[in-house]
Amino acid sequence: MTTPSADDARPATAGRAPAPEPSQPPQEPAPDANGQPPLLRLVGVGKNFGPVRALIDIDLDVPAGQVTALVGDNGAGKSTLIKTIAGIWVQDHGEILWEGKPVRFHSPKDAASYGIATVYQDLALADNLDIVQNMFLGRESLSRGRLLDEDSMELKAAETLKGLRVTTVRSIRQPVASLSGGQRQSVAVAKAVMWNSKLVLLDEPTAALGVVQTRQVLDLIKRLRDHGLAVMVISHNLNDVFEVADRIAVLYLGRMVAQAPAADFDRQSVVEYMTTGTASANGKG
Ligand SMILES: Nc1ncnc2c1ncn2[C@@H]1O[C@H](COP(=O)(O)OP(=O)(O)OP(=O)(O)O)[C@@H](O)[C@H]1O
Ligand SMILES: [Mg+2]
Repeated sequence: MTTPSADDARPATAGRAPAPEPSQPPQEPAPDANGQPPLLRLVGVGKNFGPVRALIDIDLDVPAGQVTALVGDNGAGKSTLIKTIAGIWVQDHGEILWEGKPVRFHSPKDAASYGIATVYQDLALADNLDIVQNMFLGRESLSRGRLLDEDSMELKAAETLKGLRVTTVRSIRQPVASLSGGQRQSVAVAKAVMWNSKLVLLDEPTAALGVVQTRQVLDLIKRLRDHGLAVMVISHNLNDVFEVADRIAVLYLGRMVAQAPAADFDRQSVVEYMTTGTASANGKG
């Protein structure tokens, strides 16, 4: 087992002139908005898969109205972290606080009921259904009793897409199979927004996209933030990260080795945290 001890997560300062910055890696809690706790806070969260410690003692703040980028090398635990927040896994240790109160999400539906929406890389859209059908799929229980007719469903779907300025879709009655990758991401995100989500989790939303489509998705992420939602996005692409992130959180072998405002990092320090769990100079390298 090569998992580093907690001490390994700290920069080695011996033998170097003292850094002008604080000697701890950036671990700044998000400032509370108007005295309110952050929308989501993880305290000491751990998740094991048998002998594999996928998440170790994770502290993380995800504030509303900000984009938090979650970065880390392959296998660092990013998807596991998102799935734990989304209710797919229940943590083995630690606590999840939602609006300051301890919660336990036992299923994705449970997490969704708090306003957590997740857009996975494989998207979970039904290819054979059209955009409107997809945006209402799985929400049947919400419309039970006041059955929504096709017209009002169409209107709501169209308004949501328009509100997010998703304008490239030709018809909302188009099957999702006929959409481009970026359009599919946009529909998945719009679906999340339509159901009054407060936190949108995106796992590698631009990984399979070209330049133009990536732009659409990044713009969409910024719009969610501007609407006051909390957004947490996993990305391997540091261009994307530095373009959209207000905060950056770095996982290394299951541990959170740095989290702070994006302005406290530069590319080099992010890469160093991702690949070694520490950075030679703290924050901006
Ligand atoms: N369902 C599972 N069963 C057993 N081990 C798992 C499971 N899911 C993840 N793991 C393990 O947990 C660790 C973290 O995996 P995770 O998928 O969260 O990484 P990641 O940061 O999302 O990586 P990537 O960038 O490759 O997507 C890995 O060692 C992985 O093998
Ligand atoms: Mg992953």
